[in-house]
Amino acid sequence: MKYSIAIDGPAGAGKSTIAKELAKKLGYIYVDTGAMYRAMALYFLRLGLCADQHAAIAESCKNVRVAIEYLEGVQQIILNGENVTAFLREEEVGRMASATSIYPEVRMKLVELQRELAAEEDVIMDGRDIGTYVLPNANVKIYLTASVETRANRRYLELKEKGIESNYEEIKKDIEERDYRDKNREFAPLLQAEDAVLLDTSDMTVEEVINSILTIKEKAK
Ligand code: DC
Repeated sequence: MKYSIAIDGPAGAGKSTIAKELAKKLGYIYVDTGAMYRAMALYFLRLGLCADQHAAIAESCKNVRVAIEYLEGVQQIILNGENVTAFLREEEVGRMASATSIYPEVRMKLVELQRELAAEEDVIMDGRDIGTYVLPNANVKIYLTASVETRANRRYLELKEKGIESNYEEIKKDIEERDYRDKNREFAPLLQAEDAVLLDTSDMTVEEVINSILTIKEKAK
């Protein structure tokens, strides 16, 4: 049996930072499911589709192939044979991912791949519905969150570090809208699984979060 750690939570809670570190420490594979939804979003954008064109999006899902590979331990997303990893962090792609991940056709395309990965490898998988829907039997489930202000501030500083000037209030509004959509969609919404441990990282350092999860994992054995 492979070991799986599911980390769910809203945008900007620090899931990917924590999951990457933990994967390195434990020698597991890190699976960033948000990147998969972003790859689908990029595909729709390139087709010139708008987020509200459900029928056309569902139809286009029949012809898309998303795969993942690892390059020096870093997840790469392959969209129809092309490595699109470098394009996925754009704000436009993130917004489209949030708006199109509400469709069951989009989700089903990716859930299958996510379950296959967890069956083959020890994984730390982060997303919105990992503990509730993708891997309901995950060995450890964490629900990672932080206040909207903390999350907006983290994103603002992250962009600033990359030399990108942004507006804090706009980022905060965008996060609030994304939270609302992720939590209120009909199919596999963002929700804390009953057996998930809640970690509010607003006042925690990365190291403290990692150590908490390692302690939770020890107890779960
Ligand atoms: O974590 P992220 O910002 O890269 O995710 C982008 C969008 O993808 C997010 O707004 C919601 C969606 N998503 C999802 O619906 N289910 C997942 N397991 C992961 C992401």
